[in-house]
Amino acid sequence: MSSPTLAPPGRSILIVGASRGLGQAMAAEFATRGWRVLGTVRSPGTPLHRLAAERPDLVEIETLDMTDHGQIRAVRDRLSDRRFDIVFINGGVANRTPEATMAGVSTEDFVQVMATNVLGVMRAVEAFGDLARPGGVIGAMSSGQGSIANNANGVNDVYRASKAALNQSMASYAGRHTEEGKALILMAPGWIRTEMGGSNAPFSVEDAMPRIVDVLIAQEGAAGLRYLDRNGRTVPW
Ligand SMILES: NC(=O)c1ccc[n+]([C@@H]2O[C@H](COP(=O)([O-])OP(=O)(O)OC[C@H]3O[C@@H](n4cnc5c(N)ncnc54)[C@H](OP(=O)(O)O)[C@@H]3O)[C@@H](O)[C@H]2O)c1
Repeated sequence: MSSPTLAPPGRSILIVGASRGLGQAMAAEFATRGWRVLGTVRSPGTPLHRLAAERPDLVEIETLDMTDHGQIRAVRDRLSDRRFDIVFINGGVANRTPEATMAGVSTEDFVQVMATNVLGVMRAVEAFGDLARPGGVIGAMSSGQGSIANNANGVNDVYRASKAALNQSMASYAGRHTEEGKALILMAPGWIRTEMGGSNAPFSVEDAMPRIVDVLIAQEGAAGLRYLDRNGRTVPW
């Protein structure tokens, strides 16, 4: 595991969906490295609120549900004078019945997963992407399960499709924003023990997150779209 390196004063990251799990751990890791963190939550009393109470000098909180376009616009307006080194959209959901096939999933579950993992994330990317400074990083939490090339076992249809659609949408965003020279990163973090990942996942948050943060920081100044795992290796699309 890499050792944290303190960032120069003033380095900052916006993390959308930072209440708990990987998003909160990302906030904690960046704060440990001396970065200023603005994290978003949907409700009070989250682990991010505890982190903000411990590090009020480094951690601030905004309230945002990515599926509410009005909330995205309101937060964007409040942040219009701010710039960040990294803008990272972490939030996401899995469907309640992961074993359901695409044809068998309930319409409600399908809509919730797609509205969150694709529509919500991309609306956040579109709204907050220009808050990333020139040469900075815009990232989204994808998944190795978003890889079409690596889909050999035919499970998790809906979640896989949502992350593949996110990857495709980021490619479209990249095509429209080439002149801005920012790094556009789709992160496949690996299967990690969180509420979503479950207790059978092979990797701990403590092991994975410093690597994920190292990879994100390493992308600064390297324009272009990349689909990377937590060790910085390219994931086949
Ligand atoms: N854990 C894994 O093995 C794994 C592997 C690959 C990819 N991922 C991806 O990593 C990201 C985080 O997953 P996790 O394992 O940390 O899951 P988690 O523990 O279930 O946390 C999910 C996070 O997403 C937020 N979120 C959900 N819907 C949202 C919305 N509409 N607006 C704003 N925030 C929303 C949640 O906020 P609330 O607290 O308000 O619900 C929470 O902060 C997800 O995108 C997930 O798909 C996870």
